[in-house]
Amino acid sequence: MFKSLICLVPLAATAQALFTEYQPSNQHNQDDSQMPPQQQQPPPPIGGGDPYDGSQGVPNRVFSSSWVGSPSNPQIIPPSQDHFYTVNTTLVNSQPNGKVLLERSMGINGLYSGIEEAIQMVYSTKDNYDGATSSVADILIPRKDKLNGRIMAVALPEDSVCLDCAPSYNIFFRRSSPVIQSLLDEGYIVVIPDYEGVRGSYTVGHVSGTHILDALSATKDRVQELGIKGQFDVGIWGYGTAALASGWAAEMASDYAPHLDLKAAALGSVMANLTNWLISSNSSPSSYLVATSLLGMATEYKSVFVALEDNLSPRRKKSFNSAANHCATDNTLRFLESDVLRGSFQNGYNIIADPNVRAVYDLNSLGKNAPKCNMFVYQGSQDSTTVLHDVRSLLKYYCSQGTTVKYHEIPDTTHAQGMDMYLDVIDFFDDAFANKVTSSCERIDGNFYQN
Ligand SMILES: *[C@@H]1O[C@H](CO)[C@@H](O)[C@H](O)[C@H]1NC(C)=O
Ligand SMILES: *[C@@H]1O[C@H](CO)[C@@H](O)[C@H](O)[C@H]1NC(C)=O
Repeated sequence: MFKSLICLVPLAATAQALFTEYQPSNQHNQDDSQMPPQQQQPPPPIGGGDPYDGSQGVPNRVFSSSWVGSPSNPQIIPPSQDHFYTVNTTLVNSQPNGKVLLERSMGINGLYSGIEEAIQMVYSTKDNYDGATSSVADILIPRKDKLNGRIMAVALPEDSVCLDCAPSYNIFFRRSSPVIQSLLDEGYIVVIPDYEGVRGSYTVGHVSGTHILDALSATKDRVQELGIKGQFDVGIWGYGTAALASGWAAEMASDYAPHLDLKAAALGSVMANLTNWLISSNSSPSSYLVATSLLGMATEYKSVFVALEDNLSPRRKKSFNSAANHCATDNTLRFLESDVLRGSFQNGYNIIADPNVRAVYDLNSLGKNAPKCNMFVYQGSQDSTTVLHDVRSLLKYYCSQGTTVKYHEIPDTTHAQGMDMYLDVIDFFDDAFANKVTSSCERIDGNFYQN
């Protein structure tokens, strides 16, 4: 493969200090008087030495004795230094997609309430060329009496190619997500996959599709073993750049994972045409996404890697490539309003005008297949991070192929405000899982496919 991007995120503090600093007290749940008192996690079960040493011959899955982020063991190691994130080639080649290969308990008490169990798993999946690989996901399971028989994959925007910015790890440092808490309150089992995979393949469509779908399959298997009875219905939810990933999963589901029987997907503020998204992100407050996306594509496409190597201006090369070593917040400031598409390159070269690069962006845009599941697509009409026309065209295509789509273009609403629409999304999922979505193509404030 091409140069692998090594994450060099400086550790400002020890994991212990980070944990203490960021571990939220009850600050965002202060008004929740029904919250049960905080329970101390029991100490980790004592397992026998080698975590790979299964007791029943060649195990399907190995329970690791380690915990991550529990009060009794608060050592949270960044993924780049954590063996848990290293692909075990022997293991992935011996397993089909969507199986749990390794797992450990997570201590996230205080971050989300009403949880029975939190698990971090390594699961088998496929890379961009359908080679066997693995990724990591977190599974949050509500208390048994609350379970509603549904599993939701929530794709969180990572917007970085750095492994240390992976959602499965960053959950410890983020504020709790109201979307995730609402789903848990409704009784959904929530799975949060690292859909960029171990190589940080940001905006690579096929990788996000396989990684989200296999995380759902592995979760479905895993919870069946908990003695949680019944059929689980599954759905997918993503907002912003995570909606691109979720859209890929929805488009691939019926071919790649027909057994999952994906029921519904919600995409908020989705970038439908990647070329246009890249152009509109350039010289904007989120210019860093241009560099991040090109670096993400370069992990899988040699043509993009070569275009970068050959054309980056010697003066800019270092700062451009250093985007690979930072998470989104840092990169936002480092690239603010820069002209990355032209300004980073020499001799007036415009990387998105390069036919080879352009081909990669077309290939990774949505609209390759129409999803078979119910779709809810929503976004603010003032959302400057997406190209409205492209969203409408995508939905027009889905509708022409018979997909059931509900589209809400929310007036006077920006990207950040659109994020707060999650209660509408939960209502949509309620209808979709209850088979109550009737209209096949509906725009809540008009008729989008006439546009
Ligand atoms: C990879 O998995 C195999 C099979 O479970 C195991 O025997 C081996 O020790 C693992 N390798 C590493 C480096 O953990
Ligand atoms: C994206 O939009 C551009 C126009 O800017 C168009 O040339 C291209 O074909 C579109 N790509 C896809 C995959 O629809």
